[in-house]
Amino acid sequence: MVDRHGAIGVFDSGVGGLTVVRQIEARLPTESIIYLGDTARVPYGTKSPETVVRYAKACAQLLLERDIKMLVVACNTASAFALDALRDDLDIPVLGVIEPGAQAAVRATRTGRVGVIGTAGTIRSERYREALQCQDPSITVFSQACPLFVPLTEEGWTTGDVPKTVAEAYLAPLLENNIDTLVLGCTHYPLLKEVIAQAVGEAVTLVDSADETALVVQESLEALKLCCETPLLPQFRFLVSDAPSDFEQVGQRFLGHVMQEAEWVNL
Ligand code: DGL
Repeated sequence: MVDRHGAIGVFDSGVGGLTVVRQIEARLPTESIIYLGDTARVPYGTKSPETVVRYAKACAQLLLERDIKMLVVACNTASAFALDALRDDLDIPVLGVIEPGAQAAVRATRTGRVGVIGTAGTIRSERYREALQCQDPSITVFSQACPLFVPLTEEGWTTGDVPKTVAEAYLAPLLENNIDTLVLGCTHYPLLKEVIAQAVGEAVTLVDSADETALVVQESLEALKLCCETPLLPQFRFLVSDAPSDFEQVGQRFLGHVMQEAEWVNL
């Protein structure tokens, strides 16, 4: 029996999933969250599907041992490769970030020409294409891996000439294909939203999968009657598999506020 007072478990390869936590916190201020950043093994975006599945299963197991009521895979690459395996293995609700982003893009597009950007792994997996075309087979999907966006955001290079030049180079092929909607299919990309918006122009609607995922978390908790209703102070815990102080320092920009101490865990 799942306890509605349990925390929501969230994991990512590192700091990126904190953009999803930020949106969950904003929508569901009474919910407790346990976050796991697999900082010892980041990045996932360059790894093989088999390796990402193995890592994702280890992350899920560690969070399950802490009695979570729902698991949010707050990593596009892990959602792309491991969501089905995790859903098969676990008997609590498991949500990823790809379906929510795809749903929002289907609602947003007027021309049916949708761009998707993400890590090399996410783009190679074709999971966004499948999710988009499963909802509307007439949609044409144009994809682009943007591997330099992850280190840029972690370095704090989210404004100025360097990210502008990189964004323009990555996004030019999508613009040539006349997309009208662009899915930010990586947890790091919300930090580059302004640069990306400038590069694609006002005619292209940006879909932030972090925001859409938080909305789906809320709807799922409500539908499953798993919302925490007692007005207790929510608990937040941040677990990492390596270098807690680096995680705290970089993570604050992703979370949008100061975070409590991160704890090292042996994964
Ligand atoms: N969090 C990953 C994602 O959303 C990006 C970072 C990584 O490659 O691990 O795909």
